[in-house]
Amino acid sequence: MDKQMIKVGLMGFGTVGTGVVRLIQAHQEDLQKQAGFAIKIQKILVKDAAKYRNIPLMDHLVTTDPNELLDDPDIDIIVEVIGGVSPAKEYILGALERGKHIVTANKDLMALHGGEILQKAQENRCDVFYEASVAGGIPILRALVEGFSSDRITKMMGIVNGTTNYILTKMSQEGSNYADVLKEAQSLGYAEANPSSDVEGFDAARKLAILATLGFHVPIKLEHVDVRGISSVNKEDIAYGKQLGYEMKLIGLAQRDKDAIEVSVQPTMVPKSHPLASVNGVYNAVYVHGEAVGETMFYGPGAGELPTAMAVVSDLVTVVKNRKLGVNGHGMIAPYKEQILKDDSQKLSKYFLRIVVADQRGVLAQITQLLANENISLEQVIQQPLNEGAQAEIIMVTHMASKLDMDHVLKHMEQMEIVTEVKSYYHVEGGDKN
Ligand code: NAP
Ligand code: HSE
Repeated sequence: MDKQMIKVGLMGFGTVGTGVVRLIQAHQEDLQKQAGFAIKIQKILVKDAAKYRNIPLMDHLVTTDPNELLDDPDIDIIVEVIGGVSPAKEYILGALERGKHIVTANKDLMALHGGEILQKAQENRCDVFYEASVAGGIPILRALVEGFSSDRITKMMGIVNGTTNYILTKMSQEGSNYADVLKEAQSLGYAEANPSSDVEGFDAARKLAILATLGFHVPIKLEHVDVRGISSVNKEDIAYGKQLGYEMKLIGLAQRDKDAIEVSVQPTMVPKSHPLASVNGVYNAVYVHGEAVGETMFYGPGAGELPTAMAVVSDLVTVVKNRKLGVNGHGMIAPYKEQILKDDSQKLSKYFLRIVVADQRGVLAQITQLLANENISLEQVIQQPLNEGAQAEIIMVTHMASKLDMDHVLKHMEQMEIVTEVKSYYHVEGGDKN
């Protein structure tokens, strides 16, 4: 083995894999100076070897046989950028069993099987780094694990899916059509292989499970995250939100009150004055509140070839540095706190509601009475005539209410004769009192 060179097996040569190769080629000298070793791509695993690749001098490294990477004793590190659970999981576990370190961008895998993978890594004294799995180019996992290690994080609130933020921004700023913008996001390489993972909120939910586990030191799995995507958000909701002073964002929220935790991903109205409201396009941002530090915010590109590859290659440099220091496999801390999840009566938020009602005298009074019965009061209301005055649309923002009380309100509202339809309801986050 060449002692001055670290050999890497790259699994996946799509958007991120291509970026990894480009970055290693372009920054070879700097990387060598920082890591103490030259970094060489030894082999590249793909699904379709015949596919045209817009990157020269790499064809001879391409294979469709994973064992050419797993069984190569010269390969020290596997970079997994295939995505999805299988076969990525089997390849990663197989690599760890052979003593190879792992760098991955795979949030599906880390959110679902992170515990098993980190356990296997520990048994084999291997590193596993996955910075690129959350918020693309923003080094948020490092910040949580190292930068906040002496603090107690109480809240993380973030825009962690570039595809949906790109879609919502275009709908809000240009009045674009949802389906057209989704196609654009796919062609730009932002979307997952199955884009419903982005638009239905699951990609963001996986990232929130990772953030909450690392930030709160509590094992949080995907099934603990309340998830709602943006596929039912429409231009009218966005326009009424704007009229009331809000931008619509897909917000991931992880919050701890005393020791009870809630984690959710949902389309949310954010006041225009809040820093998250101006995070646009493919950009991501994560707001973190720590008891000692107070408010902090991390901002940057959340997807795309080079931003994501930057996070992957930086992890690669860390593995190589650890090797130089002889500390591979020593840096991981398993979640060590008991998991206590909030029940619905403890989950508090303001709500935006849009309903269609019969335009009769006393209708608004009946609606406010229904809310008052559940101890919910209103902060803002607007009313618009519909169908030449036969009906009206009422748009309201409530003060803080529990999820339990709001669920009762929605159930009763749907049964009221004067209510034709509950068009939409969303959380409102990031204002003065939340
Ligand atoms: P991609 O463009 O679809 O590339 C996937 C690559 O994996 C392709 O090269 C494909 O081979 C290969 N592959 C797929 N199935 C395989 C199999 N069964 N065996 C061997 N190779 C296989 O995906 P990507 O956008 O680069 O994303 C990769 C990972 O990074 C995912 O976990 C994703 O969530 C994560 N990520 C992506 C971004 C982003 O902006 N794209 C950002 C952050 C994290 P072929 O080339 O032959 O088809
Ligand atoms: N599909 C993901 C997104 C890629 O749009 O954010 C980055 O994880």
